[in-house]
Amino acid sequence: MKPVDAAGDFLDVLVTKDQINERLAELAKQIENDYQNKNVLLVGVLKGAVMLMADLSRQLSFSVEMDWMAVSSYGKGTTSSGVVRILKDLDADIANRHVLILEDIVDSGLTLSWLVQNLRARQPASLEVFALLRKPEAIQVHVDVKYVGFDIPPDFVVGYGLDYAEGYRNLDSVATLNPAVYSERP
Ligand code: PRP
Repeated sequence: MKPVDAAGDFLDVLVTKDQINERLAELAKQIENDYQNKNVLLVGVLKGAVMLMADLSRQLSFSVEMDWMAVSSYGKGTTSSGVVRILKDLDADIANRHVLILEDIVDSGLTLSWLVQNLRARQPASLEVFALLRKPEAIQVHVDVKYVGFDIPPDFVVGYGLDYAEGYRNLDSVATLNPAVYSERP
């Protein structure tokens, strides 16, 4: 087994773990301010948002509920259909709830656009989005993201929940992957 931070696997660390923690602390303060006296339901989008859920929720000084959704985009990377399939739906009924969606990354925006529409139809009291990363140059469909961690270039990134072939999610920072890694795989 090779180490998760194997030298040579990554070209650049785009966002360090310290930068992530600092930014989450800032945004957690904003969230506390925005949701005073409200019960918040954090909805993590699997699998990428696992680290974000764990770290952001622990920066919040009030109790929150957590729920999860898993979705899969048809034709992701090749088409822009934006058709999404639910692999795991929420456990909670979100009607009249204050829902904050947690996404690791907004790339084309297609997944999030679909998700927001889907959840809005369930009539939550409020619905907002938190994305750790956003690629402004890759956006195909606009989605309002209230809380953005970092805007990054449209490069392929891994770590902090983001994967390449399901690997590297456990890297504690966000890094660009060395193309040599792709070619190692059969
Ligand atoms: C990633 C990410 C977002 C989506 C963003 O999920 O977590 O959900 O892609 O891309 P988009 O803005 O172009 O729609 P992915 O389908 O890779 O699943 P994962 O979180 O399980 O890795």
